[in-house]
Amino acid sequence: MRKFIIDTDTASDDAVALVMALRQPDIDVKAITVVAGNVPLPQALQNALYTVELCGASVPVYAGCAKPLLRDLETAEVVHGKDGMGDIGLPLQGRQPAPGHAADMLRQTINENAGDITLVTLGPLTNVALALLREPELARKVGRCFIMGGVGAGHGNVTPTAEFNIWVDPEAARIVYESGMAITMVGWDISWRHATFDAEQAGEIRRIGTPLAEFVIDIQATLTDFAMRENALAGFDLPDPITMAAAIDPDVCTYERYRVDVTTGDGLARGITVVDRLGVTGREANVDVAESADRASFVEMLRRSVS
Ligand code: RIB
Ligand code: CA
Repeated sequence: MRKFIIDTDTASDDAVALVMALRQPDIDVKAITVVAGNVPLPQALQNALYTVELCGASVPVYAGCAKPLLRDLETAEVVHGKDGMGDIGLPLQGRQPAPGHAADMLRQTINENAGDITLVTLGPLTNVALALLREPELARKVGRCFIMGGVGAGHGNVTPTAEFNIWVDPEAARIVYESGMAITMVGWDISWRHATFDAEQAGEIRRIGTPLAEFVIDIQATLTDFAMRENALAGFDLPDPITMAAAIDPDVCTYERYRVDVTTGDGLARGITVVDRLGVTGREANVDVAESADRASFVEMLRRSVS
């Protein structure tokens, strides 16, 4: 059994990634830590708790940071819906998290499984950065950290060059990218190139007919409208699930190792993952950057998780 910790700002694509991990027979999800991002923390927490219950799993879910380290919280209800789950009327309230702050529980769980943990981050990196600030040597105790974040090669989704998870808390992202942790970055370019679903492709998954198959498609209602209207995509894209697919089976993507730095300015200088492809900075490479993905393998993994 491989041991995972998942940090998430649970909204409609995060929830699908959670389903994929929770339904993977050889993965033991030791903890789910929740961070503010797509929606405020209380809603993200309820969305994570609901998804764990729907999967019939018993994984502790911990509440974490309600805002970035230094900046005000910027959310994305316009992308995922007010409840973050497509506003389709799911009962997303009243569930209780496990006691303990996510940053402390990240540290505790990593220390209890030193060297044997795969950390998958699906939201802003505030919780992970806080854990690293409290215990810098934690970086060496994580086997590998798969980050849905940034842009490997291409354009951003919040500014022309910044992706939401990094942009929301760029100071946290810089701490994580410079921590010495073994990082694999799956940027938003991988999602819009290899993980978009038009109506027909979404219908093929929904027609599997199980409650989970219907759930993973129906909660994309708001994302579908937004993606087609704002991102000129032919349907919704699933950045967190394709990142989870890479964490479950790294062969889903191909990678190159580069120096990646994060900008912490404002305006267009905020939250850019600067990938030094030519090595012109002379700085040591710190990130394995996903360069391409095998869509068929990803879709097959997604289909299996909801069948
Ligand atoms: O930019 C896409 C990322 O931002 C995804 O993780 C999505 O869930 C949002 O958190
Ligand atoms: Ca997310």
